[in-house]
Amino acid sequence: MPQAYLPGEPFVSSESLFNALGKDYEDVFGHDAGLLRVVERFISYLSPDARVLDCGSGTGKPVAHMIASANRSVHGIDLSEAMIELSRKQVPTATFEQCNMLSYSPPPGSFGGATASLSLFELTRAQLTTMVANWARWLRPGGYLLIATMGAEDVEGTREEMYDEDGECASGIPFTFMGSRVYLTLFTKKGWERLLEGAGFEIVETQRDLFSPPKEAKCDEEKHLFLIARKRVE
Ligand SMILES: C[S@@+](CC[C@H](N)C(=O)[O-])C[C@H]1O[C@@H](n2cnc3c(N)ncnc32)[C@H](O)[C@@H]1O
Repeated sequence: MPQAYLPGEPFVSSESLFNALGKDYEDVFGHDAGLLRVVERFISYLSPDARVLDCGSGTGKPVAHMIASANRSVHGIDLSEAMIELSRKQVPTATFEQCNMLSYSPPPGSFGGATASLSLFELTRAQLTTMVANWARWLRPGGYLLIATMGAEDVEGTREEMYDEDGECASGIPFTFMGSRVYLTLFTKKGWERLLEGAGFEIVETQRDLFSPPKEAKCDEEKHLFLIARKRVE
């Protein structure tokens, strides 16, 4: 189970963190203009018959809702029971399933699109690498992947000693999220690009956008990194 805290801190799993947050999360992050723009761009690449997998689908809004409203079939997966319940109510035209994205195993080539929007922060480097290999397998050739995350180099708390030897990924980065102190593992922009290209994707777009949560949300500012990649057609 991914951990939101390092040993020494009170242990809270990602599942219980998001079970507790529920709709409060959407109230803060659901109107992120940079994310809404990039989801529109992602939708513009999808073929009309694309089935889309939303990994860490949260409340279903905005991502699954926008894609389903663009007449694509959407399947969302999330660890948190509370989030799954909310998403089923909020996006009745999509399907949702409570599971860990790391143990999900659809048949190869099942999807024309996949998204992971701000849902990868608690995964380790090895788990992130596994997920990129999974998407390469789950997407059909020419399918599109959208990742919304942060680059290690864009977070104030990232220090030199947190980076792996190759300088492409840092871990244990302290961050304040909805009043909780969490520790993140983040690739750099270059690290993401190399990981995706090595797994058979071509990068279609990368963008950065600053999201400033309201003060009362007790969140650090998030400089988001958005990547849209296409699975190469051999
Ligand atoms: C920060 S929220 C983002 C929700 C949504 N994607 C959005 O952009 O609004 C992260 C979500 O990812 C889910 N999550 C985290 N790790 C996960 C995992 N390993 N498998 C499935 N869901 C996960 C959490 O339960 C939470 O609902």
